[in-house]
Amino acid sequence: MIDVHCHILPGLDDGSRGLEESLEMAESAIADGITRVVATPHASSSYVFDFARVRECRDELQKHLGDRLLLATGCDFHMSPENMIALREDAPRFCINQKNYLLVEFNEFSIPPAMDHRLHELQLAGLRPVITHPERNAILRARPERLKQWVQHGSFVQVTGGSLTGSFGVGAQEDAWRWIDEGLVHFVASDAHNTRTRPLVLRAAYDAVEAQFGKEKAEALFEENPLAAFEGQELPHVPEVLDESSEPRKKKFFFF
Ligand SMILES: [Fe+2]
Repeated sequence: MIDVHCHILPGLDDGSRGLEESLEMAESAIADGITRVVATPHASSSYVFDFARVRECRDELQKHLGDRLLLATGCDFHMSPENMIALREDAPRFCINQKNYLLVEFNEFSIPPAMDHRLHELQLAGLRPVITHPERNAILRARPERLKQWVQHGSFVQVTGGSLTGSFGVGAQEDAWRWIDEGLVHFVASDAHNTRTRPLVLRAAYDAVEAQFGKEKAEALFEENPLAAFEGQELPHVPEVLDESSEPRKKKFFFF
């Protein structure tokens, strides 16, 4: 599996607090069957994204891991006006493995209509926005039609593995499963922050998706789409989005 969203680099944001914790997170990824990880520190009002420092941290951690786990970098990108200016100057430094897929996170307080325009602007610049964990965002959970519209206009969606297995509550769990069913989800990632509450694992979520939707779907969300984003290729699996009149594909999900 390839994890396109996690906070494994030490001391850059609210993720790993030091090298020891980063190494433990890496070991848990390796044991879980993850072969590549994209370290995606926040770029937000709370955390400055310094690309040179991000790369330094990545290189240092990679040195310790050798070829047991491949580390790349990206960014958990907040679409503030300042960040948008920085993005226009040099987009690849923020993108997954410096290609063209960009993780975009929204805050919990407001998602103004201008965000629709900013997503469009990213696409016009040749970038592929990936909306991170909408199932954990109260605004998007209350207005899923906005998410659906973004997907119909070419944005992609990543849900968190832990949401599927219930770590973020029943509401997030239900929406994450329903949105996979509705064809709104393209990636599952760990969004790991530490070794305790937000670990770097995906296997349990992979098994749950395989049990619900079959092997092909699990491979699409955890392996093949992440690999394509990692390499800057077109996603091989872009499901058809169910419209309002459609019946849900699955009537009921069983949870773990
Ligand atoms: Fe994140």
